[in-house]
Amino acid sequence: MSNDSIFSLFFFITLLVAANAEDEHIFLPSQLHEEDSVSSSSSCTATDPNLYYRPVIGILSHPGDGASGRLSNVTGVSNIPASYVKFVESGGARVIPLFYNESPQKLTKKLDLVNGVLFTGGWATSGPYLEALEFVFQTALEKNDGGDHFPVLGLNLGGNLLIKIVADQADVLETFNASSLPSSLQLWKSANDEGSLYQRFPLDLLTQLSTDCLVLHNHKYAITPRKLQYNRKLSNFFEILATSNDRDDKIFVSTARGKNYPVTVNLWQPEKNAFEWGTSLKAPRTENAIRVTQSSANFFVSEARKSSNRPYAQEVRDNLIYNYQPTYGGTAGKGYDQVYLFE
Ligand SMILES: *[C@@H]1O[C@H](CO)[C@@H](O)[C@H](O)[C@H]1NC(C)=O
Ligand SMILES: *[C@@H]1O[C@H](CO)[C@@H](O)[C@H](O)[C@H]1NC(C)=O
Repeated sequence: MSNDSIFSLFFFITLLVAANAEDEHIFLPSQLHEEDSVSSSSSCTATDPNLYYRPVIGILSHPGDGASGRLSNVTGVSNIPASYVKFVESGGARVIPLFYNESPQKLTKKLDLVNGVLFTGGWATSGPYLEALEFVFQTALEKNDGGDHFPVLGLNLGGNLLIKIVADQADVLETFNASSLPSSLQLWKSANDEGSLYQRFPLDLLTQLSTDCLVLHNHKYAITPRKLQYNRKLSNFFEILATSNDRDDKIFVSTARGKNYPVTVNLWQPEKNAFEWGTSLKAPRTENAIRVTQSSANFFVSEARKSSNRPYAQEVRDNLIYNYQPTYGGTAGKGYDQVYLFE
């Protein structure tokens, strides 16, 4: 044998011995607790009795067909873009549609079937839609006052309307140049607090949010941080979690949360990155951008699991969005890809 092969053999034996020595220390978890080893369930995480693992989210429908009449001109038609439904589903919850043009009595009954509500983006800022949104928002606050943990998520227009309602001032927003604008975020100290949207993000993603463009802003109105902080009603209710810059480098509040209520206002739209594909939409599509969508869904649904509401399963099933079929409106290459239409 050459010196080389002797060395190789020696090395191989050393490896074998090392591997054997390692072997003696390798135990399956079940082998460490012999008394438990018969029960295979010992490896499943115990569920938390304080959490609800079948959460349902109410989404308020928006006037129109969501496609400027390409899909439906029926009077009183309303829609929910399917991207919001997919967003909620991806977090592990189901959706019940709340129709903006149904009676307060019906809305109240449906709100007893859900564990949180979501307000979408859109264009309607007054009339029956605003009234319905205000009614649902007030009911959500009352549920929280009554001891439930009932989260509210307002995205883009939905968030801006919550700011207007809390401020009780129609002209509290200012114009910004932020239509279809991929953005980074400046996170404020409060973004780390328990119960904040960003607290649910993995650390590496949080770092990237401030340097990379992982979110999409798509709005013309917003509030400056200064105005939010100097408006007594707004500063009593909200704290700022994140700000961003528009195209003219004007700073606006991008995320705010209720100080005493699980209410989140978010001007950027997490559902777009993963679920809307209109060709002019500049939504970020990188893996990290998709993780932003997923982390946001995890946040919202984890808040809904804290709700103490335990509705009757059959009543929930009878009202789920699965009773409706989404319509593909994306063939024009613009607007929402799929919408649920309610005629
Ligand atoms: C709705 O009305 C517009 C304008 O008249 C028309 O172009 C469009 O085709 C109509 N949409 C449907 C679904 O009928
Ligand atoms: C928005 O910003 C772009 C790019 O800076 C600029 O060309 C455009 O005029 C601005 N729009 C408005 C309405 O100010």
